[in-house]
Amino acid sequence: MDELTCIFSSLLLCCLLATSASLEHSSGTDLKTYIVHVLPNPIVSNSEDWHRSFLPPPQHIVSVVEPTTPAERLLYSYRSVSAFAARLTEQELRDVERRPGFVSAYPDRMVPLLTTRTPEFLGLYSDTEQGLWKDSNYGEGTIVGIMDTGIAAGLPSFQDNGLLPPPPARWKGVCEFNASSLCNNKLIGARNFARGLNAMNNHDKITAAAPPSDTEGHGTHAASTAVGMFVDGASVDGQAGGTAVGIAPRAHLSVYRVCAPRGCATSDIMAGIDAAIGDGVDVISLSLGGSSRPYYRDGIATSSFAAVASGIFVSCAGGNSGPKASSLSNEAPWMLTVAASTVDRNVRTTVTLGDGQRFDGESLYQPTDFPPTQLPLVYPGSTFSSAAYCSSGSLSRVNVTGKIVLCDTGNVGRVAKGKAVKNAGGAGMIIANRKVEGYTTLTDPHVLPASVVSYTDGLKIKSYINSTTSDAKASITFKGTVTGSSVLAPVVAYFSSRGPSKADRNILKPDITGPGVNILAAWPFDIGTPAAKFNIISGTSMSTPHLTGVVAVLKAAHPDWSPAAIKSAIMTTASRTTNNGSMIFDQNMNKADFFAIGAGHVDPVAASNPGLVYDLSPADYVPYLCGLNYTDSQVTTIVHKAIKCADYGPADLNYPSFMVFVSHGSSVTVTRTVTNVGAAGSSYSVRITEPVGVSVTVQPDTLSFSQANEKAQFIVTFTSDRSGSSGSSYSEGHLTWVSADGGDISVKSPIMVGINGGGNM
Ligand SMILES: *[C@@H]1O[C@H](CO)[C@@H](O)[C@H](O)[C@H]1NC(C)=O
Ligand SMILES: *[C@@H]1O[C@H](CO)[C@@H](O)[C@H](O)[C@H]1NC(C)=O
Ligand SMILES: *[C@@H]1O[C@H](CO)[C@@H](O)[C@H](O)[C@H]1NC(C)=O
Ligand SMILES: *[C@@H]1O[C@H](CO)[C@@H](O)[C@H](O)[C@H]1NC(C)=O
Ligand SMILES: *[C@@H]1O[C@H](CO)[C@@H](O)[C@H](O)[C@H]1NC(C)=O
Repeated sequence: MDELTCIFSSLLLCCLLATSASLEHSSGTDLKTYIVHVLPNPIVSNSEDWHRSFLPPPQHIVSVVEPTTPAERLLYSYRSVSAFAARLTEQELRDVERRPGFVSAYPDRMVPLLTTRTPEFLGLYSDTEQGLWKDSNYGEGTIVGIMDTGIAAGLPSFQDNGLLPPPPARWKGVCEFNASSLCNNKLIGARNFARGLNAMNNHDKITAAAPPSDTEGHGTHAASTAVGMFVDGASVDGQAGGTAVGIAPRAHLSVYRVCAPRGCATSDIMAGIDAAIGDGVDVISLSLGGSSRPYYRDGIATSSFAAVASGIFVSCAGGNSGPKASSLSNEAPWMLTVAASTVDRNVRTTVTLGDGQRFDGESLYQPTDFPPTQLPLVYPGSTFSSAAYCSSGSLSRVNVTGKIVLCDTGNVGRVAKGKAVKNAGGAGMIIANRKVEGYTTLTDPHVLPASVVSYTDGLKIKSYINSTTSDAKASITFKGTVTGSSVLAPVVAYFSSRGPSKADRNILKPDITGPGVNILAAWPFDIGTPAAKFNIISGTSMSTPHLTGVVAVLKAAHPDWSPAAIKSAIMTTASRTTNNGSMIFDQNMNKADFFAIGAGHVDPVAASNPGLVYDLSPADYVPYLCGLNYTDSQVTTIVHKAIKCADYGPADLNYPSFMVFVSHGSSVTVTRTVTNVGAAGSSYSVRITEPVGVSVTVQPDTLSFSQANEKAQFIVTFTSDRSGSSGSSYSEGHLTWVSADGGDISVKSPIMVGINGGGNM
């Protein structure tokens, strides 16, 4: 992992990867936590007894209730997946592997929360996605399960205010807060899972009996983004007041604390998902995830499969390791993999140079008394390269008194740079993005007048400083919160992880992008003046709960849609354009490719009326997994029942996007089936935008449906036009079913073709 990724995606990620790597290499008689998958045993009625029978002898007789005593090896006996988590020595693991019924085992690992954090927030955020609220009654009746750092119960975002009905009859969850008043008809469940974390013996031990309070903030932020109630009069230091609200404000919330501030043990995440399935949630939201691995060694993927098999939607963060290629987390096709992009709002500051050049930037700190006069401008990095980041102490040899100081992002936090500049006597600060961050500017509560500018603008400012030597000047003026068409959005965030998928290169990932930059939502702690319990943070951790909320309102509007149907509806109606009509940009202001945005940006209103969906049943994943050349036991690990791949023929996964590889001059054919979820008696014709170098034919090219829920199959052939040329490349196009009845329904799928011409792709 390179330095930039480390600092900018998350310092934690690096620590955690280092931790898990060392854990996986420890040996000898040390106890280590393993996730052990076994065949279901229909004869033993209690699955925990069956799981215990695999453990070293004392374990199947001792029924220990207190799970944290060292003697207890069984951390979790899962019910939704045929697996358990246990602490074993390597020798004991080898004994377990010899037992009849054993399927597979792999070590537990820590995965990070997927936030790039800004330390504080002084802002207010209100979503504008109101259209679907009417159809879905704001998500009423659905239950959203959040796997995260717990929750600051009692905040206004999590009150029912007497406005919500009790949870539906299927609800079986529990509230572990000992003051039961903290749970209500909004927050209906709250549980704590920390055995895996504690067994890893890191610094964040959580008392098993502790309530699932959020001492970090991440879980509170995610929960309020997805389902927070309307909170009027949330005010911001120096900014206008307004209303904060989640995407599905009438949905119920159940919280599973499976993460500590430093990250989450996979065994705890699996326990949270296991509980959520039993409790009766409709949507599970995971703003966390580690580096890619095969599905059969990824407990999040195997437990998510069980959730989807129970009809529960699983919405997952795609990761903050972008813009590097193949940097995604949570790639399984039964998960929704969410990227992050900007919203049409910034808190603007404008830098004006002595020569009249102007650059718009961002800062949450918006002083009203900072004079707009030109001050001397200095870039310490041009004198001492070590001072370029304005870290504490680095400015001692540079005269910054009364000046505006230009600093590069990196090495230390953005707010910390401002503190160093202020301590050294500086009057103001401009922070220039590095190349990797491009145009993604993050909004922070700086301690002095400041503006964060893009990489390109930073270069122009540096070149101005170079050319004017000693008398460079600049002013900073404050424009407050700017929304709407003057802020180009969505633009993909630099940190948002990119495809292609490592786990299966034949599935296009990520699936979708949503708002994940400078997102305001509830926070456990007071921030700013006047004190307010809100914070602004960025990451795929923030875009994921937006999608989770969208899923909740879709589920409320269409209770009969399967998880795959909802996912298809979200993907085939996604928007591909920014608010000025151009195609969505990436962090460099180039057209974002499908490895950055998948099908595009979520459009919740359109998703409620998709016309056709690419549906899937849980059984459809079995031939897909066998087609990956997984062994029988690998497939069994994922689907939780004994599978013989020889019993299954090849089958294309009915995915709503197309990702194929063709060799020069040859063809590939795939089959898809669409289901009519629109009006009876509708028909569609196909429209193709061919990828460069590839011709695409569809058979048949029109589809007619006389009834609702009728299915129709079609075959798509991709042929590489080029012959003889060498070199490999990716090429993008679209396949769209357009309603022929004068309706305005377009069922759009992205096409990504890898054209093989020698060499690996
Ligand atoms: C609630 O939990 C705290 C901490 O575990 C404990 O000190 C307190 O006595 C509990 N209160 C009640 C009413 O059980
Ligand atoms: C620092 O720069 C300011 C403004 O140019 C100047 O007035 C001051 O004398 C300088 N201080 C030192 C120690 O050079
Ligand atoms: C400014 O000048 C320095 C030293 O001559 C040079 O290394 C740097 O590339 C210049 N920067 C810009 C943006 O022109
Ligand atoms: C949208 O804005 C971008 C960036 O300013 C610009 O390059 C592009 O031409 C604009 N597109 C349209 C259609 O105006
Ligand atoms: C599975 O193995 C077959 C035969 O070796 C090969 O043709 C195919 O490409 C493999 N599939 C994948 C997804 O690796």
